Amino acid sequence: MDGFGSAVVWMNGQILSGAQATVPVWDRGFLFGESVYETFRTYEGIPWLFVEHYERLVRSADQLSIRVPYSMAELWEACLRLAEVYRPQEAYLRIIVTGGLSDVVLEPPHERKPNVVILGKVFQAFPALWYETGAPVVIARVRRNPAFALDPRIKSSNLLNNILAYRDAVRAGAAEAIMLNYEGWVAEGASSNVFIVNARGVLQTPSLDVGLLEGVTRRWVLQICRQRAIPVEEARFALEDLRQAREVFVTSSLKGILPVTSIDGQPVGNGTVGPVTRQLMEWYDEAVRAYVERVRSDGVPLPYC
Ligand code: PDD
Repeated sequence: MDGFGSAVVWMNGQILSGAQATVPVWDRGFLFGESVYETFRTYEGIPWLFVEHYERLVRSADQLSIRVPYSMAELWEACLRLAEVYRPQEAYLRIIVTGGLSDVVLEPPHERKPNVVILGKVFQAFPALWYETGAPVVIARVRRNPAFALDPRIKSSNLLNNILAYRDAVRAGAAEAIMLNYEGWVAEGASSNVFIVNARGVLQTPSLDVGLLEGVTRRWVLQICRQRAIPVEEARFALEDLRQAREVFVTSSLKGILPVTSIDGQPVGNGTVGPVTRQLMEWYDEAVRAYVERVRSDGVPLPYC
């Protein structure tokens, strides 16, 4: 990556240059992939859905017996400081909490000292055309690792499963690779959740028991649908249902709501962005604007969902 030495990094309470910010090779994140993370972006310099990200970070860390050594308020301040560096552009922010230093043994040390790093960079938006006419996706050849092996609800920095899946998207010039679970149910994208308006016109997203990350954006969509009386189901559905859907979209903190109009080169529905997707995209933009205004006036991050 070019110029990461000039990037700005928050590490254990200090702002450092990208070149100064280093994690020792004895960190369990490096040794074993034992670390958790959250990624999000800013809108007008304000981190979006910060409370939900912080809470998930704590939950993921807890699953690995790591205590996040900073409060939500402390990390909020840190993120605002980093975001300020990139103004007037928007920032991509990634909080990483590692397992800390250790001998090369599987058992974690009794007293852990996690390293906490926040990486900042300029947020690079996805191509505008994908939001206007819809994006292409592919079905990944690798399956999502099952919850009984490594629960995808832990947002771990060990992303090998996702990296292998995403290679199929890169090869095809697609925006995302959709993964099935080990039984063949549609699970999620390599770095997003997936929704369909199925052939009967019902909005659905894979239920958590399929084995997937409980996305913050996914939760936002479920909540807005309930508030606005749009029927939505968390359900199991198969690849055939995805291929025959009238509408498909994927969600993530970086992508927002990204319409999908082709799967493996075949059009979804009539090949254009459908009305349910468009409506949700509009509500999403409105919600972002309202959130930014509220946080600006209150000065603190507010829970959304
Ligand atoms: N990815 N599923 C997976 C496997 C993900 O990695 C992500 C997010 C999501 C969507 O979650 P959310 O709505 O909370 O962003 C679903 C982030 C963007 C990343 O890996 O950088």
